[in-house]
Amino acid sequence: MTNPAKAQTSQKPVLVVDYGAQYAQLIARRVREANVYSEIVPHTYTTAQLLAKNPAAIILSGGPSSVYAEGAPSVGADLFEAGIPVLGICYGFQAMAAALGGTVAETGQREYGATQVQIIGESRSILAATDADQTTWMSHGDAVHEAPAGFDVLAMSAGAPVAAFANEEKCLFGVQWHPEVKHSAFGQKVLENFLFNGAKLEKNWTANSILDEQVELIRNQVGSAKVLCGLSGGVDSAVAAALVQRAVGDQLTCVFVNHGLLRQGEAEQVELDFVASTGAKLYVANEQERFLSALEGVSDPETKRKIIGREFIRAFEEAERAIMAEAALEGEEIKFLVQGTLYPDVVESGGGEGAANIKSHHNVGGLPEDLRFELVEPLRALFKDEVRAVGAELGLPAEIVGRQPFPGPGLGIRIVGEITGERLELLRQADAIARAELTAAGLDNEVWQMPVVLLADVRSVGVMGDGRTYGHPIVLRPVSSEDAMTADWSRLPYDLLAKISNRITNEVDGVNRVVLDVTSKPPGTIEWE
Ligand code: XMP
Repeated sequence: MTNPAKAQTSQKPVLVVDYGAQYAQLIARRVREANVYSEIVPHTYTTAQLLAKNPAAIILSGGPSSVYAEGAPSVGADLFEAGIPVLGICYGFQAMAAALGGTVAETGQREYGATQVQIIGESRSILAATDADQTTWMSHGDAVHEAPAGFDVLAMSAGAPVAAFANEEKCLFGVQWHPEVKHSAFGQKVLENFLFNGAKLEKNWTANSILDEQVELIRNQVGSAKVLCGLSGGVDSAVAAALVQRAVGDQLTCVFVNHGLLRQGEAEQVELDFVASTGAKLYVANEQERFLSALEGVSDPETKRKIIGREFIRAFEEAERAIMAEAALEGEEIKFLVQGTLYPDVVESGGGEGAANIKSHHNVGGLPEDLRFELVEPLRALFKDEVRAVGAELGLPAEIVGRQPFPGPGLGIRIVGEITGERLELLRQADAIARAELTAAGLDNEVWQMPVVLLADVRSVGVMGDGRTYGHPIVLRPVSSEDAMTADWSRLPYDLLAKISNRITNEVDGVNRVVLDVTSKPPGTIEWE
């Protein structure tokens, strides 16, 4: 179930109605990749609620139900009389057909995965400039057997007599397949045909337009007040801070709590590169010792997370008090706090079902709830790829905007066992080697993230020269993913793995073994702890 975000832009949205099969976010992202703003709403919205959002167009997403199943979500026929362009996808296509008087029936022939579709009839409509015979990605049991009156049948497949239809006059369209999935050969083309030929929308959602609008919104919200922003070293807080800096300059003070659990070079990235590229004022709290002593003797991952989260909040509050005191001396008050909340956090956090819960433990490193600040959340409408694009537009260094997702508790949850300064140093070296080699092989874009994990509680035996050695294994965990909810292990070339392994065992004292994690998620998680 989704929870709609508060409006963070004045753009009329293409609304994606979420029927609950995880496709809605992907559809919204693809629409935005076509430079059109898009928002997700739950299927429980009535037609009146949908129209109240003043949509530029509506896309009905796929979903797991059969339209005839008891309690299956339906769509009101009045939606199709509102003069808004609509595209139905998979379940949304069937719900649309059923609502408009077409027939949907069980075919007995399920189509799942790559499926050939043939274009039929005169009109190409939203299938313009696509092949007459094309590969699509399907996932359905029922099929539309008869299109509603007034609709042209555009395509068919073995299991779907009506695989796509159109009513050009009313600007209503539907496809049985998933155009948002990359395996659909002309998926993006079909979506763009709908957006630009069908709904006649303009391309006005770009990194540049987002930047301009957010700067304007921040100025309106903040006025001449002072603003505080915590930097974690990650992409989101860096881009959020840079946006606010662009909007209100020196009214912003950034705070960087260095907990000592970052990777090699990351603290410098914040302290030097971020500051150089934005000109932002930065307050650094060097708290490495504090975190190490709070974590002494602790091996349990959840306890580590709690301690890191708790100490982080305390350290941040101390820094905040120091900055407030300084501002007060100048007769000023700090009223706002910047947070790098993203659109997927907002969409997921409302429902408390399924995917949303998986992420609930990831708020470590977040801030206390009883904050007396008003929040500034300039990324609330954005997906991660958009945040990166805006960051690049703002002139942030590629190392910051291209940074892989990295957990708030940092290397603290990549050491299986107790955390010590020595172990952190060892893991930093191994991680730096693995990252450098991945980059040198030109494969940064092939992996979503590559945790490097130190099994500090395991002693592995090795041989060096004439003697046996006892060291620790390092685990490489490269994964491919779209959103970290599911993931697969990345098939990195053997030569690259060999090189990483050789370098780590030769160069990092205390490590005598490198192993590769070949578990998908589920059942494994991405991190080891
Ligand atoms: P898992 O390990 O649950 O990770 O498959 C999914 C994504 O979340 C990140 N992760 C965390 N992020 N605090 C965070 O801020 C955490 O405690 C945490 N644990 C995992 C992980 O790196 C991956 O991107």
